[in-house]
Amino acid sequence: MNPLATQFLSRRPQTNLDWINSKLAFHKARMTWSNEENILDFGCGPGNITRDILLPHCINLKKLIGVDIQPAFVEYANKAFNHENIEYREINLMERIPTEWEGTFHKIFSIFALHCIRDTSQLLKVFHRLLKPGGYFLALGVCTEEVLSSFKEISKLPQWMEYIQNVEDFFWVVYDCKNPCSTSKKLADASGFDTDFFALTPSTQVFSSKSHYIQFCESIMPEAIIKRIPSEKLEHFWEDWCEIVQKHRVTFRPDGTISREIIMLEMCLKSKN
Ligand SMILES: C[S@@+](CC[C@H](N)C(=O)[O-])C[C@H]1O[C@@H](n2cnc3c(N)ncnc32)[C@H](O)[C@@H]1O
Repeated sequence: MNPLATQFLSRRPQTNLDWINSKLAFHKARMTWSNEENILDFGCGPGNITRDILLPHCINLKKLIGVDIQPAFVEYANKAFNHENIEYREINLMERIPTEWEGTFHKIFSIFALHCIRDTSQLLKVFHRLLKPGGYFLALGVCTEEVLSSFKEISKLPQWMEYIQNVEDFFWVVYDCKNPCSTSKKLADASGFDTDFFALTPSTQVFSSKSHYIQFCESIMPEAIIKRIPSEKLEHFWEDWCEIVQKHRVTFRPDGTISREIIMLEMCLKSKN
């Protein structure tokens, strides 16, 4: 992930934001809400989604905590998307859970962040410890896109193999897998959750130009992969990338726009009482 928060913001397609908003509205109506809600936004990024999209859907909010491992995002969120009911914290919950947080959250949301975590099983166990009994975990994000399959292919090219290795370590197990529904149900069950809702929806994203598409890819790629490529080789890398993605549901249209076919994921889990 590129730590430049402002770039990440400007490269996000609007249709993506509209999708998140409509799904939050849908799940809000399905969930039960207490009088004073403590809510966690896992992988809050630069904070725009937390404040401007998630916050308006939080009923009876007491506190919304956004956590991220990237200091640049947390710093930006604190400056640009602050709010009296929101606290942004730089913390890696995979490594440390503040003891005072255990069993205190009514809901945990994760918006386009779950696919960044390889050990989903461990993460769900962490969420289970953080939630109150009967609390919800809602993940919205991408289940299948061109990124992993293209990385696998590009990593076999002699000019890139020394830089791009072990790509599967950077993505969660449900991403691009054959049976995402049964895989996630098994994970949920083993971590103390019931699956409350699961849906996969095909979607098309359109980018105005090749450079817009490349900038978007740059902003979503795991930093650990992209930073290994020497800067003088990046232009060449993106040329190869644009060739390869066309075999993975990305279309470079005659009018110069780019479209990609992806599959969106909604997963709502309920912590067993
Ligand atoms: C694709 S971004 C999405 C950000 C934001 N939710 C949004 O939709 O704009 C994924 C975020 O997850 C964060 N992340 C990755 N691993 C994390 C971890 N172990 N703990 C907290 N955040 C993490 C990344 O730093 C990144 O900001």
